[in-house]
Amino acid sequence: MRILLDTANLDEIKRGMEYYSIEGVTTNPSIIVKENVDFIDHMKALAELLGKDKKLFIQVIATDADGIVDDALLLNEVVDADLYVKIPVTPEGLKAIKMLKEKGIKTAATSIINSQQGMLAVRAGAKYLIPYVNRADNILADGVNAVGELVDFIEIYGLDCEVVAASFKNIQQVHGCAINRVHAVTIPGDLLDRLASNHLTDFSVEEFSKNWDKAYPGKNNIR
Ligand code: E4P
Repeated sequence: MRILLDTANLDEIKRGMEYYSIEGVTTNPSIIVKENVDFIDHMKALAELLGKDKKLFIQVIATDADGIVDDALLLNEVVDADLYVKIPVTPEGLKAIKMLKEKGIKTAATSIINSQQGMLAVRAGAKYLIPYVNRADNILADGVNAVGELVDFIEIYGLDCEVVAASFKNIQQVHGCAINRVHAVTIPGDLLDRLASNHLTDFSVEEFSKNWDKAYPGKNNIR
């Protein structure tokens, strides 16, 4: 399971790149407005920070097919990155994904709640499927199960597509997706820190240090 960061905050991304092996960054309009920035300038800054070897997912603002295609073309023109244009799965979104596939623009179908929406997006030409786990859980639609179904369908039908599960509120949801063999997850920085930390691990480290210090007072490394 690969990991992406679900944020548009430059400091959070810098930290994510320093501490963890992230594959890239995902954003959406709600995440971007939190930064209180100029949209295009900030997307350029994200692209510069990530470089060409990390993926950048940017969502369109328009909701009609022609407008979505126009947003996608603009992003492709001005953002110099390994860019995937995120498009919510609606009838207009599916039409836009199909139009963009014909133009050779890479897309990620987002806001997916059930696996059938995902299957339609693959057929339209999306390279990534982004199912919303917590939002599905909130309507008792079992987000983790939808992720598992998508992964199975991709294998069964031999589809050229991957799942980046999103919308997480806890580690249990991330773990459920891993068990369901998800290709990648995108999570906020605080949840990534929670994945990496455990109080029992901290306890063990403290115990090692205490025992070492008793034997070799003041010598806190090997050298
Ligand atoms: C990422 O691609 C999604 O836009 C994001 O994870 C949605 O998360 P939310 O349900 O917490 O808003």
